[in-house]
Amino acid sequence: MATDRPAVELRAVSKSFGTRKVLDDVSLTIEAGRSICILGRSGTGKSVSLKTIIGLIRPDTGGVLIEGEDITGLSSRELSRVRKRIGFLFQYAALFDSISVGENVAFPLRRHSDLANDEIRSRASHLLTQVGLGREYDKMPSDLSGGMKKRAGLARALALQPPILLADEPSAGLDPVTAGEIDALLVTLKQQSSTTLIVVTHNIPSARTIADELVFLHEGRIIAQGAPAALDRSDIPLVRQFMTSEGAG
Ligand SMILES: Nc1ncnc2c1ncn2[C@@H]1O[C@H](COP(=O)(O)OP(=O)(O)OP(=O)(O)O)[C@@H](O)[C@H]1O
Ligand SMILES: [Mg+2]
Repeated sequence: MATDRPAVELRAVSKSFGTRKVLDDVSLTIEAGRSICILGRSGTGKSVSLKTIIGLIRPDTGGVLIEGEDITGLSSRELSRVRKRIGFLFQYAALFDSISVGENVAFPLRRHSDLANDEIRSRASHLLTQVGLGREYDKMPSDLSGGMKKRAGLARALALQPPILLADEPSAGLDPVTAGEIDALLVTLKQQSSTTLIVVTHNIPSARTIADELVFLHEGRIIAQGAPAALDRSDIPLVRQFMTSEGAG
């Protein structure tokens, strides 16, 4: 395994939907074990960036490399192999409605591991405990609040202990205490498991806690990138506006 390669690399990625250019020549390198937060206004291409990294959206031009491997031309079978190494928390949690919360978390383990049933249940249950949902294993997703669904989605994204975790607004819609717990969990993942984190957030205090580096997207381009302390001194008005805000959760 090429651990000396960057975990994720976007090389001059552009993507349009119809006439709208959503990503415009975006290049970004994330070294293994580093954490970045992607910030920017609504509709500016943050979620599209994450979906491009995981191969759900293919760029029109440019390349996406995961641990040194260009995934842009891979078959769906090959993509599935790469995706096992990437945990993905969707912006809207995207749980399977017809199976219990615990089985949602167990799903990747049932599909991609040969662990025994007891072991799978015990791991899924432990993951749920980590996100504060230890007692919800047998509930159905429809019985959870929005914030609980999000946390269950995070537990599922972590099931295969991925070296790379993409999280699209993991703390949006959570109360400040729970949001703080999610931040702490992400920091623990980074520190104890050296997980590479790519997190989209509108929450600046959260970004300061999680990220080695912040990346500002605006109209499909990276307009600023650097450590939080450096971006506090940015002379770009939009960046300063973000950095001085308390964030909208
Ligand atoms: N599959 C798609 N087909 C067509 N247009 C899309 C698709 N996905 C995203 N878009 C468009 O791309 C633009 C960027 O969307 P994206 O979801 O990346 O925004 P975002 O930065 O994540 O915003 P938010 O903060 O509201 O989540 C939007 O104009 C959106 O309508
Ligand atoms: Mg989004």
